[in-house]
Amino acid sequence: MAEGSGTQSPEIGFGVDIGGSGIKGAAVDYSTGEFTTDRIKIETPRPATPDAVAETVAQLLDEAGWEGPVGLTVPAVVRNQTAESAANIDPTWIGTDVDELFHRHLGRDRTITVLNDADAAGIAEVTYGDPRARSGSVIMLTFGTGIGSALLMDGHLFPNTELGHFPYANGETETWASSAVRDREELSYKEWAKRVDGVLHEFRRLFSPGTFIVGGGISRKAEKWIPHLTVDAEVVPAELRNRAGIVGAALAVRDGLRP
Ligand code: BGC
Repeated sequence: MAEGSGTQSPEIGFGVDIGGSGIKGAAVDYSTGEFTTDRIKIETPRPATPDAVAETVAQLLDEAGWEGPVGLTVPAVVRNQTAESAANIDPTWIGTDVDELFHRHLGRDRTITVLNDADAAGIAEVTYGDPRARSGSVIMLTFGTGIGSALLMDGHLFPNTELGHFPYANGETETWASSAVRDREELSYKEWAKRVDGVLHEFRRLFSPGTFIVGGGISRKAEKWIPHLTVDAEVVPAELRNRAGIVGAALAVRDGLRP
């Protein structure tokens, strides 16, 4: 079906969030940022090579019956629609022309955009989340297997910041304070919050943001750890929770964002 034709109205888009363990997709109502369909989740193939992942995305879109434009996130730097890093995904993504890859698997005529997962989450929060996300200087951090970051100024994105790889505590911030580290080292919320607080202090010293938005699955438990933070900036839990990547991807393709 051609873009924007048939039953797929421009008020509805589709986003796919590609992660290390699952590939998730849903149709998104642009007026509310809510899903209009159930979220479909398919396990990420192993090894998660670009072709295997793109084939799984094709399967997901088939299952959803979606033939229109699609936005996709990957946990990597994406510049000019080429993946340039691969921290928690298969190293063969580095140098992959993601525009060519997904057009080959999802259809040559389909409108496609690919962007970093945390950048997508940032855009989604700006559009549908807490108003503080679109006001002034904001650093959004997503805590999961790694730490993703989105730098925002009055809702405008500076793409492909990789603050999870900022050198910290003899490693990187994400090897010290991701939510996977909390699980692995069996840290209490208080212990983990102390690590996150250290990281936020460092980012506060370097970037002086007015607000930090903290996302990822752990934002659901915000009341257990945000009260332990001492950083001199507002810390706001993300509102879109695990919808953010999908919603941001759908927004990116609608708006023709191609970082
Ligand atoms: C990757 C980022 C990604 C983040 C969250 C990091 O390891 O380098 O590109 O945004 O994980 O998935």
